[in-house]
Amino acid sequence: MTKLTIPNDALCVADYQRLAKKCLPHPIFEYVYGGGGDEFTMQRNRDAFDKLAIWPRVLNDVTHGTTSTTVLGATWRTPMMLAPVAFQTMAHEQGEWATAEAASALEVGMMTSTLSSRSLESISKKITSPKWFQLYWQIDRTFNIALVRRAEKAGYSALVVTVDSAIHGIRNRAQRAGFVLPEGVEAVNLTDRPPLPSKAFTPDQSIVFQGMMSEAPTWEDITWLIQQTSLPVIIKGILHPSDALKAKAIGAKGVVISNHGGRTLDCVPSAIDVLPAIREQVGNDFVVLMDGGIQRGTDVFKALALGANAVLIGRPQLYALAVAGAVGVAHMLRILREELEVTMALAGTARVQDITTASLYYPH
Ligand code: FNR
Repeated sequence: MTKLTIPNDALCVADYQRLAKKCLPHPIFEYVYGGGGDEFTMQRNRDAFDKLAIWPRVLNDVTHGTTSTTVLGATWRTPMMLAPVAFQTMAHEQGEWATAEAASALEVGMMTSTLSSRSLESISKKITSPKWFQLYWQIDRTFNIALVRRAEKAGYSALVVTVDSAIHGIRNRAQRAGFVLPEGVEAVNLTDRPPLPSKAFTPDQSIVFQGMMSEAPTWEDITWLIQQTSLPVIIKGILHPSDALKAKAIGAKGVVISNHGGRTLDCVPSAIDVLPAIREQVGNDFVVLMDGGIQRGTDVFKALALGANAVLIGRPQLYALAVAGAVGVAHMLRILREELEVTMALAGTARVQDITTASLYYPH
């Protein structure tokens, strides 16, 4: 196994992105980095954070400060979790195993993707922090249940159902770079999936509506799924407040506000922009997580101020994995935690619950 160390110039998340560009094959970097369409949403994810300002408060005693918080009844060391990210052996030979070790070392939770390149059971064995399983709906209901039962048996404590990517985005950047999954990297959890029924289209039919979307889940399917498991179900990929409310009404225990890192439909809002409206709609006792564009502890702070219980970290885990394996991911997570601590200390907020909308400054 290659021995990887932390480069001296890896000081923040953006450094890991810069360094990953040098060490990943070009098509893989472009696939990981890129978004959908013209990448307006991907850019908006960053711009929306950048335009928010933190209003610092001085001389508060923060010596009892802590980043710990409670989500779904469990104590988390930091209000962060690793987002589900597919095919991690693309970035490092150990793939999800290395990420799981890093998450455990930093006591950060991990969402294992349906499209992991290691088995969900083997990843679970390496996670000692909160572990949730992310489900991509499969057309065959029985196969969904088989995956859910495996996740339950493997000790995952929640199910995250991603609903925003029934169709992959139109990923021109990855296409231009000629991205294809490298040989040997595969969705090992789906190897016994029953073959998809072959379809013939008449000239007046569309491969989108009558093709791909005929395999996509509906509210009815997700309601059914919630009834099939004792695990709390979180719906990932919500942007509209009415959809968040609907998720709550069908019995979901939370939502992840997300535009998939700008990788699916372009021209949609950033998660941070819609967060206040969603929090207002669902009330304070419902779990609201968000992701998209988080690169600094100040970003985590801004999301908490606008009502998120915690945030998810997507691409940075692959960048750090590519640069320095498990050590890199652990280092990247420590950077984010320490940046959050610095932000909380200098904003005069000792505890996560002290961070509120009053912690942000809005110019008149
Ligand atoms: C993802 N994302 C994702 N989401 C999901 O629910 N299941 C998955 O398997 C994947 N796979 C995946 C692969 C890669 C390469 C990327 C970059 C993203 C989306 C991910 O969970 C998250 O929503 C975004 O990555 C968050 O945005 P940032 O943090 O990358 O800006």
